[in-house]
Amino acid sequence: MTKMKIATSNLKEEALLMKIPIITDEGLFFLIETIKKHQVKTILEIGSAIGYSAIMMAAHVEKIVTVEREEELANIARENIKEINLASKVTVINADALNLEITETFDLIFIDAAKAQYEKFFIKFKNNLTKDGIIICDNLNFHNLDYQKASKSTQNLLKKLANFKKILKANNEFETTYT
Ligand SMILES: C[S@@+](CC[C@H](N)C(=O)[O-])C[C@H]1O[C@@H](n2cnc3c(N)ncnc32)[C@H](O)[C@@H]1O
Repeated sequence: MTKMKIATSNLKEEALLMKIPIITDEGLFFLIETIKKHQVKTILEIGSAIGYSAIMMAAHVEKIVTVEREEELANIARENIKEINLASKVTVINADALNLEITETFDLIFIDAAKAQYEKFFIKFKNNLTKDGIIICDNLNFHNLDYQKASKSTQNLLKKLANFKKILKANNEFETTYT
């Protein structure tokens, strides 16, 4: 990965240039609408990348904790957040979320990290929600990829996501919707 400093004014373009996947405009719109509708004040994000989604959500909430396992990306995210004067609101933790112990609770948990581990993230962090809290998992349909045309590894991932959806369906603690 090329080390480069990202201008906060065009984070989105720079992320694309660095081939770092970030949330789509549609996904971000949905997140922000959900934040507003449910008066979300605190967010735990799993998967910071360069801090784009955290920065975009920050204007609407009081506090965000975002976790990134790649040290270089966590540092870039921190730098971007600092440059845009959001360091008092947004904390970047450099860790593998699956090895992280957080006791704090949040109004919303945004899962946007390794898709093969969505079920593990969900199980690990569902108790970190405040009452009536919300968990949003990005891109569970994995770009509506055709299973037959996918590579073996992608097929395995699609199977894991399908299994995760089954688990969500069977889970009575949560009401699940897909958009
Ligand atoms: C899709 S990107 C996140 C994009 C970001 N949320 C945005 O929209 O701006 C996924 C990120 O999750 C990180 N990641 C993957 N597995 C992780 C884990 N177990 N713990 C923490 N971060 C992880 C990856 O390094 C990658 O930077």
